Amino acid sequence: MAGVLTRLPTRTGPVPWYARPATGGGVDPVVPPPSEAGPFPPGTTGAAAPQHGHPNRVRQSLRIAGDLGREVFAGAELGDTFSFASLLDPRLVVMTQHPDHVRSLFTADPEVAPSLAGESPVRPVVGLSVLTAVGQQHRRRRKLMMPSFHGEAIARYREEIRDATARHLDRWTTGRAFPLAATTQAITLDVIMSGVFGIDHRADPAEARLRHVVRRTLELSTSPVARFGELLNLDREESVGPQRWVVARLDLAMYDVIARRRAAHEPGARHDILSLLLDVRDEDGAPLTDRELRNELLTLVLAGHETTANTIAWTFERLLRTPAAHDRLRDVVRSGEDPDGYVEATITESMRARPVVPLIGRRVRVPWQLGDVVAPADSRVLIGILLLHHRADLYPDPFRFAPERFLGRRPGAHEWVPFGGGTRRCLGAALAMEELRIVVPEIARRADLVVDDPAPERPVSRNVTMIPARGGRVRATSLRA
Ligand code: HEM
Repeated sequence: MAGVLTRLPTRTGPVPWYARPATGGGVDPVVPPPSEAGPFPPGTTGAAAPQHGHPNRVRQSLRIAGDLGREVFAGAELGDTFSFASLLDPRLVVMTQHPDHVRSLFTADPEVAPSLAGESPVRPVVGLSVLTAVGQQHRRRRKLMMPSFHGEAIARYREEIRDATARHLDRWTTGRAFPLAATTQAITLDVIMSGVFGIDHRADPAEARLRHVVRRTLELSTSPVARFGELLNLDREESVGPQRWVVARLDLAMYDVIARRRAAHEPGARHDILSLLLDVRDEDGAPLTDRELRNELLTLVLAGHETTANTIAWTFERLLRTPAAHDRLRDVVRSGEDPDGYVEATITESMRARPVVPLIGRRVRVPWQLGDVVAPADSRVLIGILLLHHRADLYPDPFRFAPERFLGRRPGAHEWVPFGGGTRRCLGAALAMEELRIVVPEIARRADLVVDDPAPERPVSRNVTMIPARGGRVRATSLRA
């Protein structure tokens, strides 16, 4: 029997990107060679980006859906900028990873390089909102939402973040393996429901129903049916198929809570985002409609919950496979002294190595120079956040998890972009960072975690995010209060 087993063919292929070993080199960055980028002089033509992958749009989209990381790292072997066929667009989609190209897209006039979020699969679910609107409509919505994400507002969320973390970590027991993402999702859902709707874990029946439906919807969004539903909804403004049914159920609960809150509303009495938006008036003195409120609130729930939860899960997925970094983090948080900023460096490194949103995009309305190639007018240009964060010049030994890269060094604005940038930079970045700065050290302080499988977790795509396939599976060996 043993002889048969040893003769069985073993599947060996190239090491996947997420399992590439560290080379043991230093971590001091060098400046990449400059690369010209921006609107290309009208009337001139430039070289097209080299094309990666299968020329057939369906086949190449299936490859990307199957393994996004493999495809983008393979494409990057063609140079800083490459293109590929996609079901999303009859034209070739262009992807870039040079910081100068990133700068050109982030600082561009939004009329010339609008965000692609309005064309993404979330559009039929959330409708028109700060995430999906472009131009004047985006500016107006962003202005309305900004006060809810400034310093004073974030300080108000702090207490709920601490309470939710304590509540959920109190439930942990030793010995049993579990996905860390289950706990971190519960924490971030509590934070978002309380910040956005003012609904705490002791909600009344209508609010409790909304909480339940939101949780169910998020669970359903991970199923294979949901992936199929997404395909059916490509390029639509309203959902169809199974997605329509899920959204209708969610809407029922949302509109119920909005109607009750409107009826009982006293200006200034509450600080949650729904209450703040109920007080908003447009230039003609009109309040936001129920539909506008629903779109904005749902956007925040969807954008703010999984992203933060999986960033925390990834942080421990990486730490538990890098014992020296994990030990140092535990020493720092348990001693209560962190003079070098190791907690911050760990979070920054985790978001570099495993950006939960691995790609973002702009549609260039005019030909766009990206170094020695030009993206034609009206093409989708994607910023490969995952690729940018693994450039060997900016991040030597890029596959090594090394928080010390960021000790005493803040990353450059166009070199570390987990929250995107420019006028579309993540609206919830300050809230997310606040959650990370509270939850990551608290887990490291209270729990000794181990992994049963030392192999790195495979990243999988869910909607626009990249999450650990096993949810960041851990086991607690000891716990403290
Ligand atoms: C670690 C957690 C998070 C990550 C990595 C993340 C990442 C991103 C990224 C990459 C974008 C697109 C930026 C661009 O196109 O330049 C974005 C946009 C956005 N995010 Fe986040 N996000 C996180 C947490 C949150 C939270 C907590 C909220 C709200 C509660 C939120 C709300 C939004 C909104 C509303 C937008 C659209 C902004 C606009 O287009 O003006 N995000 N986020």
